[in-house]
Amino acid sequence: MPEEFKKLPTHIAIIMDGNGRWATARGLPRAEGHRVGTEAVRRVVRSCIDFGIKYLTIYAFSTENWARPQEEVNGLMMLLETVVVNELDELHREGVRIQHIGRLESLPAGLGAKIKKAVEVTRNNQRLVFTIAWNYGGRDEIICAIQNIIKDGIAPENVTEELVSGYLFTSNSPDPELLIRTSGEQRLSNFLLWQTAYSEWVVTPVFWPDFDKEDLRKAIIEYGNRDRRFGKVSSK
Ligand code: IPE
Ligand code: IPE
Ligand code: MG
Repeated sequence: MPEEFKKLPTHIAIIMDGNGRWATARGLPRAEGHRVGTEAVRRVVRSCIDFGIKYLTIYAFSTENWARPQEEVNGLMMLLETVVVNELDELHREGVRIQHIGRLESLPAGLGAKIKKAVEVTRNNQRLVFTIAWNYGGRDEIICAIQNIIKDGIAPENVTEELVSGYLFTSNSPDPELLIRTSGEQRLSNFLLWQTAYSEWVVTPVFWPDFDKEDLRKAIIEYGNRDRRFGKVSSK
């Protein structure tokens, strides 16, 4: 780990925002912002590997994003399909384990199958766990967990924090210590509601398509300087 980091988060979660505004500012269609945004994803995955980060989760399509114009929704679905297909071999070679959180059922069938294949092919990789939140909503995830807890007949006194965590889509990942949001917006937008209870927030004004290794480095340094108290008087 580079010395300047002081502390290295195990898990970084990112709300990738500002693709549309990045494009509009350049007189380009929003779709172009999304396309260039995939290059930022590639950079950030590589940077996480370089910095020794073990878990990276990116928020790429929320349950609320279905309310966008049909053309944009279709374009985003096609873009993810292209990325999953084109990047799979290289990510696999680099030891990246791909995971998905969210509901696969309501996605176009071809896309769901390609995501499942990428998850299956890379399941034993250990260098970086790269989780894509697609058709993901924090409330939807909690509803899904409650439904499954009831279906499994769990007794009320056995419902603990550990049990609930184990029923979430993220059951095999630690909670993110660092949450980054690009484009200056300061809200969670239904991302990882349970898991970010004690995450450190870093909001950067940079639009997602411009986000690079240096921005990630700065966010990790800022995280390293935070005093994480967890309700106590001091972390020391
Ligand atoms: C983030 O960029 C990508 C998705 C939410 C799919 P936006 O598309 O939200 O970009 P802005 O916020 O409109 O600029
Ligand atoms: C959050 O971004 C969702 C993703 C990054 C996938 P949005 O752009 O959809 O969020 P709001 O609508 O500005 O809160
Ligand atoms: Mg946005």
